[in-house]
Amino acid sequence: MNIRPIRDGDEAPLADLWTRCGLVRPWNDPFSDIAFARATAQTEIFVGERDSAIIASVMCGHDGHRGWVYYLAVSPDCQGRDLGRAMMTQAEDHLRALDVPKLELMIRETNAKVVQFYEALDYKTEPVIVMSRWLKEPPVAQDD
Ligand SMILES: CC(C)(COP(=O)(O)OP(=O)(O)OC[C@H]1O[C@@H](n2cnc3c(N)ncnc32)[C@H](O)[C@@H]1OP(=O)(O)O)[C@@H](O)C(=O)NCCC(=O)NCCS
Repeated sequence: MNIRPIRDGDEAPLADLWTRCGLVRPWNDPFSDIAFARATAQTEIFVGERDSAIIASVMCGHDGHRGWVYYLAVSPDCQGRDLGRAMMTQAEDHLRALDVPKLELMIRETNAKVVQFYEALDYKTEPVIVMSRWLKEPPVAQDD
C-alpha cells in the first residue's frame, strides 16, 4: 500500500470507502467534510492506495494544542493486515513533525469494538466526557 496526501479526484472513492466502513452519518456529508479539511491548513487527509484503488484513509490535524484523528478507515476486504496501523503511524509521524505533543481521537459508543485496535497501538482511554453543540443548523437530527 502506498500512502499519499489526498488529491483532486479522490473524493468519490474516499466517500465510498467511508460508507463501506460505516463511518458516514446523515449529518456528516463526506464531500463537505473532505472539502473543509482540504481548505484547512492544519488538517491533512492521507489515503492508502493499492493498484490505483483507495483502500485506506486517515484525516489528521491539530487545533493548536492537541492532534486529532478522524475517518480512519481500511477497506473491509483489506482489514487485519496492519494497514490500519500503517495509517495511524502516518498520522502520528505527520503530527509529530508539526511538534504536536499528544494525539487524541473519539470513538462512537456504537463502535466500541475498535477500542482494542487502538489499545494494540498503545492508546489509552481518557477520563473525559466529550460535549458538543451545533454552531450551524445540522442537516438532519443527530441520533448518536
Ligand atoms: C479500525 C480499522 C481501521 C483497523 O484496521 P486494520 O487494518 O484491520 O487493523 P490492523 O490490521 O492494522 O491491526 C493493528 C492491530 O490492532 C489489532 N486489531 C485490529 N482490529 C481489532 C479488533 N477488532 N479487535 C482487537 N484487535 C484488533 C490487530 O490484531 C493488530 O494488533 P497486532 O499488531 O498486535 O496483531 C478497521 O477495522 C476499520 O476500518 N474499521 C471500520 C472503521 C472504523 O471503525 N474506524 C475507526 C473509527 S474511530
